[in-house]
Amino acid sequence: MASRSGQLSWKRTALLGLVSLGHLLQPVAAVKETDFKKCDQSGFCKRNRQYADDVSTQGSSFTSPYEILPESASFRDGQLEAVILKTINDQKETVRLPITVSFLESGTARVTVDEERRQKKDVEFRYDTRARKERYNEAEQLVIVGGLTLDGNAQVTHQDESQITVKYGPSSSFEAVIRLSPFGIDFKRDGATHIKLNDGGLLNVEHWRPKVDYIYEIPDPDTEGQKPLEEAPPPVKREDETTWWDEFFGGNTDSKPRGPESVGLDISFVGYEHVYGIPEHASSMSLKETRGGEGQYTDPYRLYNADVFEYILDSPMTLYGSIPFMQAHKRQSSVGVFWLNAAETWVDITKTKASSNPLAKTTTTHTHWMSESGLLDVFVFLGPTPHDITKDYSQLTGTTTMPQEFAIGYHQCRWNYVSDDDVKDVDRRMDRYKIPYDVIWLDLEYTDDRKFFTWDEHMFKDPIAMGKKLQESMRQLVLLIDPHIKNKEGYSVLSELTSKDLAVRNKDDKNYDGWCWPGSSHWVDCFNPKAIEWWATLFKYDKFQGTLENTFIWNDMNEPSVFNGPEVTMPKDNLHYGDWEHRDVHNLNGMTFHNATFQALLSRKPGELRRPFVLTRSFYAGSQRYGAMWTGDNQADWGHLAMSLPMILNQGIAGYPFGGSDVGGFFGNPESDLLTRWYQAGAFFPFFRAHAHIDARRREPYLLSEPYRGIVTAAVRLRYSLLPAWYTAFFHAHRDGSPIVRPMFWTHPSEEAGFGVDDQLFLGSTGLLHKPVVEKDTESVDIFIPDDEIYYDYFTYQPLKTSRGKRVTVSAPLDRTGLLMRGGHIIPRRDTPRRSAQLMRFDDYTLVVTVNKAGTAEGELYVDDGDSYDYQNGQFIHRAFRMADGSITSVDAQGRDTRAVEAGAWLKAMDAVHVDKIIVVGAPAAWDRKEVTVQSGGETWTVPVKYHAAEKGRAAFAVVGRVGARIGEDWTVKLA
Ligand code: NOJ
Repeated sequence: MASRSGQLSWKRTALLGLVSLGHLLQPVAAVKETDFKKCDQSGFCKRNRQYADDVSTQGSSFTSPYEILPESASFRDGQLEAVILKTINDQKETVRLPITVSFLESGTARVTVDEERRQKKDVEFRYDTRARKERYNEAEQLVIVGGLTLDGNAQVTHQDESQITVKYGPSSSFEAVIRLSPFGIDFKRDGATHIKLNDGGLLNVEHWRPKVDYIYEIPDPDTEGQKPLEEAPPPVKREDETTWWDEFFGGNTDSKPRGPESVGLDISFVGYEHVYGIPEHASSMSLKETRGGEGQYTDPYRLYNADVFEYILDSPMTLYGSIPFMQAHKRQSSVGVFWLNAAETWVDITKTKASSNPLAKTTTTHTHWMSESGLLDVFVFLGPTPHDITKDYSQLTGTTTMPQEFAIGYHQCRWNYVSDDDVKDVDRRMDRYKIPYDVIWLDLEYTDDRKFFTWDEHMFKDPIAMGKKLQESMRQLVLLIDPHIKNKEGYSVLSELTSKDLAVRNKDDKNYDGWCWPGSSHWVDCFNPKAIEWWATLFKYDKFQGTLENTFIWNDMNEPSVFNGPEVTMPKDNLHYGDWEHRDVHNLNGMTFHNATFQALLSRKPGELRRPFVLTRSFYAGSQRYGAMWTGDNQADWGHLAMSLPMILNQGIAGYPFGGSDVGGFFGNPESDLLTRWYQAGAFFPFFRAHAHIDARRREPYLLSEPYRGIVTAAVRLRYSLLPAWYTAFFHAHRDGSPIVRPMFWTHPSEEAGFGVDDQLFLGSTGLLHKPVVEKDTESVDIFIPDDEIYYDYFTYQPLKTSRGKRVTVSAPLDRTGLLMRGGHIIPRRDTPRRSAQLMRFDDYTLVVTVNKAGTAEGELYVDDGDSYDYQNGQFIHRAFRMADGSITSVDAQGRDTRAVEAGAWLKAMDAVHVDKIIVVGAPAAWDRKEVTVQSGGETWTVPVKYHAAEKGRAAFAVVGRVGARIGEDWTVKLA
């Protein structure tokens, strides 16, 4: 496929400094897995895996060489401090590793192991390097935003020469049993062990050491040959030192001035068969084993942010972002760990089954974490519910920023809309075909010669007029801004970057020069607070000319992608602010750039405090605070469509739920049916954007022929009508980190058959259960039902014959997606189709009530101005709806006296917004009446109701029309 090769050819073209289109179309082979390291090509991964193998070979004769010195241990104010002694060289030498175990108020425990700095004379560094001579310890500053208050109630309940026991957590129900020799920790909840550290003895802190050039004994010619052979010393098994001091891969050399310094640890989840998380991988949500076996992987999951375009499916290969958070789940219990380390990391996963009773074997998942450098810093969460884990993790790393309202609408992107006329034409045609959208995107080519913050003035003659045209329908423009700055004399951004000394440096302390889209480039170092300040100046409206209040930003290539760098990224011996090596901070790099852009948008104009919107490709734990992510360069094939679901679900589990995949597939040309199905799926991604590669044919939805165009339009409109439900789900993600789209194990933690299900999702707590068709020529979906509730088809109101833990077949011809409504919910909608989300902001609401087996339902609506931070001062509406005993009521969900809130402009305008229709699906026959009464604000009035009796294949339903109650006020509708 010519187009699949496009990006590679682009990269080659950029490398050659050639930009003619002719070069783009040459067929070039797809990216090879061999362009990226396997574990055995990554020195520290190979060494740690070897260590694991040696431990396993030695079996019970192995003893971990790490022990806590009993006299070093002290406990104060929720924190245990001690020193781990690592014995090396057959007992001759020891290394001191200070350990801190912190017990936090949230019930989370944190284990941090550092290495004591030795005298300079002990550790001679090979090169005259500026790299810091301590383990990287600043990840916390960039990642952790709260939740570190120590638990004053944690206490040591037992201490002797062999172990220390600390009780902590809610009602002291958690326990950490710290074994001194060999070192290890068992974490227990209510007396049962859930997580074990170093139980398998794989703790391995590669201590710093001087480089020793081996002096080979020169044979003495006098004695040579005299020693009888049998007296020769036995061969000593040395560690594999081949990659200690430098490493080679793909023609690149990594000078390693500090030598080996990896950290490794085994973490076992006792009794847990399923583990999820550690995105980003194109793999199932429930993670696979990685040491072989049928259907399993042979390499560990890798976390090393990289531009792996044309990525392969079902692989533990690294992708663009990393979140080293893992959750383990079994019936009624979730636990988790967060491995705070920003260096290249690999995670091996194996599972064992054990039981005294062969009929009831339990599985334990063993994980082996390996990072190239930095501290060993691991947070342990003991749950017990998935929601507890989400909340505790989010308390540390922060939650999804409240989005701009437009950001949850539909985004129209391609590489590239080539001119301002092109943009206006797309805008016009979307309107002509009545397809709603909120944002049009400009990729790379809007710039003058790939110089960011400039415009190609021939093609974009009047960006302001273009922006204003979009404003007429309350639409937005997103511009691509990458972290590489073209190395071209006379380019003011470059001269500012270099004169202010804000670029990433190479190992020789010169500005690092690499190749990306513009050819030779330098990279802004957003680890430097001064760089963040400077970056903000570039976005001011008067500086970045052609931008308006409706201009927002897309950060791409921020892994960072470097076309001529090792594994398409920066050399690890590059230097960042504070003289940390790139090696130490690589996985944080993308987030620091995303943060800088987020901060920049916050300060575009004095006094303008609006929510930024910034999309990022690269991310780390905490990136959720700055905006959306997408899954990068996928392909226009069914496999990539299917893979979107586990990838997006896994993002949600790992605290970064605002994600989506390129609708249609980036590379290639989707057939109409694939594109249609992708829109149906994409309408249920938190981030809903179509995008296409520069070589791909134009595929704006209006270009489709019928019936596809009509079906896609309906899918986009379905998204828009459900925007109130989406926004409410985002509110919960913002409040406590809850996933926006939720997998079955999260919503139904007791239904074991659903723990591995990752091809369907619930939208927030709406009870909307979606499973798109992701296979060609398929007209039905088998939806897994996680409980005993009633489920109705969203489109036909058909009550389905379901049973808990089983699948139900739902008809999904091309014009319909698999969408069910769980009984017992009240779903807010807006049913008047309009051109953009913002044009709907003062429309009335429809409430869809789905009656459950008990005859009740509940739901909620959160809404604010979708743009400012005024919600922090009470400028929001948050209603709780409830149907019971023949009435539906609305009250403030937070128990506020809303009359006491001084209303600003938006809240005042919401006074004119009402509940229009209420549709009650599954309404009992007793509700077959002509009128119902509504009570609100001290008044009572009657409104018409139309009852539709049940028919074959359709539940009874009632439609209450023109309800007329204000959305922000308390009201009751009496149905019976
Ligand atoms: C790579 C991104 O992943 C893709 O979405 C974008 O179109 C190209 N860079 C060009 O900017």
